[in-house]
Amino acid sequence: MSITRTSTVPVHPQFLERMSPRAFVPEALSTAQVEQLVEAAHWAPSASNKQPWHFAYALRGDASWEAFSRIPNEANRRWCLNAGALIVLLSDKQASGKHSFDAGCAWGYLALQAHAMGLATHAMGGFSADEAGSVLGLPEHLSAECVIAVGRRGDASTLPDDLREREVPSLRKPLAQVLSAGAVPASITA
Ligand SMILES: Cc1cc2nc3c(=O)[nH]c(=O)nc-3n(C[C@H](O)[C@H](O)[C@H](O)COP(=O)(O)O)c2cc1C
Repeated sequence: MSITRTSTVPVHPQFLERMSPRAFVPEALSTAQVEQLVEAAHWAPSASNKQPWHFAYALRGDASWEAFSRIPNEANRRWCLNAGALIVLLSDKQASGKHSFDAGCAWGYLALQAHAMGLATHAMGGFSADEAGSVLGLPEHLSAECVIAVGRRGDASTLPDDLREREVPSLRKPLAQVLSAGAVPASITA
């Protein structure tokens, strides 16, 4: 199935082109690439510029890879272990009440920087917080927000049948459904 993303008003092409694939070419990212991704991510705005984020990573095949591989849940492990790096995005609950919101913004920056570098990202909320805590040695105030698979996009044919069918760009609600001038319409508040 071929789906082309379009927008009803013009936006930078990166927003339409970025997507979260499951097929990755199984080759390691370099430390320099991860540094570039996180350099971009940490320019994200945050409440009072607290920058309440931390990125812990393993490169495919390095000394931490096996331990990081245990963090995603079984459904995600089916595909994400082909990625070139796994990054656990943490936020600091002590920094501000907006720590999750700020970390989410940083994730968005990272995803778009990866796209600009010809790489793909796929965030996962499906992971074990306990496993993340023990692998990373997390204190109570550091919250694991998501695990991010990063790598060079692979061919969908490398995926199991059920995942291959889902390897298409997702669409979005119409703009009118998520944007209102003035008060929020009853269709949204009901
Ligand atoms: C916080 C967060 C958690 C997600 N968790 C998962 C997950 O556990 N497994 C998965 O396959 N995709 C996961 N996704 C990917 C979303 O399903 C995907 O971003 C969404 O369907 C939109 O598709 P797109 O990113 O290709 O535009 C997650 C995305 C985000 C932002």
